[in-house]
Amino acid sequence: MSENTIEQKKKTIFSGVQPSGKLTLGNYLGAIRNFGPLQEEYNCIYCVVDMHAITVRQDPATLRRQTLEVLAQYIACGLDPDKSTLFIQSHVPAHAELAWVLSCYTMFGELSRMTQFKDKSSKHADNVNAGLFTYPVLMASDILLYQTDMVPVGVDQKQHVELARNIAQRFNGVYSDTFVMPEPYIPQTGAKIMSLQEPSRKMSKSDENQNSFILLMDKPDDIMRKFRRAVTDSDTRVARGEGKDGVNNLISIYALATGKTPEQVEAEFEGKGYGDFKPAVGEAVVELLRPIREKTEALLQDKGYLESVYKEGAAKANYLARKTLDKVYRKVGFVKR
Ligand code: TRP
Repeated sequence: MSENTIEQKKKTIFSGVQPSGKLTLGNYLGAIRNFGPLQEEYNCIYCVVDMHAITVRQDPATLRRQTLEVLAQYIACGLDPDKSTLFIQSHVPAHAELAWVLSCYTMFGELSRMTQFKDKSSKHADNVNAGLFTYPVLMASDILLYQTDMVPVGVDQKQHVELARNIAQRFNGVYSDTFVMPEPYIPQTGAKIMSLQEPSRKMSKSDENQNSFILLMDKPDDIMRKFRRAVTDSDTRVARGEGKDGVNNLISIYALATGKTPEQVEAEFEGKGYGDFKPAVGEAVVELLRPIREKTEALLQDKGYLESVYKEGAAKANYLARKTLDKVYRKVGFVKR
């Protein structure tokens, strides 16, 4: 068997990431950390979705910079451009082209039920544009173009993957098998990292309180300060328990950063208080993130290399996407160009 045939047997993973620039420790420990190892087993395609980003108003210079920042951070987190396909959505025209066709197989009612649309349209009430409404169709197009088997997503995106499945099924039903049915994929090793200030809530970069989240690009001093200020409880033991959300969260962060089990962490800090524990978590996270930050900074200095990555990625993606789009155009009855 040629290498190419083996390659094609691998299942395909597709994921889109918004170019909002700032990735958090939560994104890293919950998902991105697993992407590197996945490349060995799967055919991985990662796309920076700049077209999705403009459904809300963006500053052009910032969008451009952040698109490259996300790309650099992904590479720094272990994605290897020789193993995975890394590209920018607007570089592959088939995404927009398929989105139009799929929009004709998506119902107004379906889109009206999307929770994210309802959230975003109330948050951006002055700009409830059609793109915000059809956003999930573009996302379905992202996924279906690559005959994706698995889509790693957080719970907030599950509804969109389900819609992609419904659209695929409807299209396949009318025109015979065209699209692989994608499954949402929640990595088993993923961890849910909570806010450092309100540990009952998920860590989020959009939190108003800057001390509640750690960014991958945070400097060591900032990381240490944020962990020293992390909310704990009135108990003093470094042990997991009910009503100890803050400490539970710090224990899982420390465990993930050091590769220890939560039990080992509890044993290590037996008889010690939060005054010892919190800076230790800070230091572990500083060391975990140091190589990622340094690599990202180096990559951002090397614009030529980044350009070669996204150009090659777009060429690979374009080839695959075109194959699917041609098939779709033929099935719906467009004259071959
Ligand atoms: N909607 C996703 C988000 O906000 C981003 C995204 C766009 C995506 N296209 C995708 C995720 C395709 C997975 C697959 O996070």
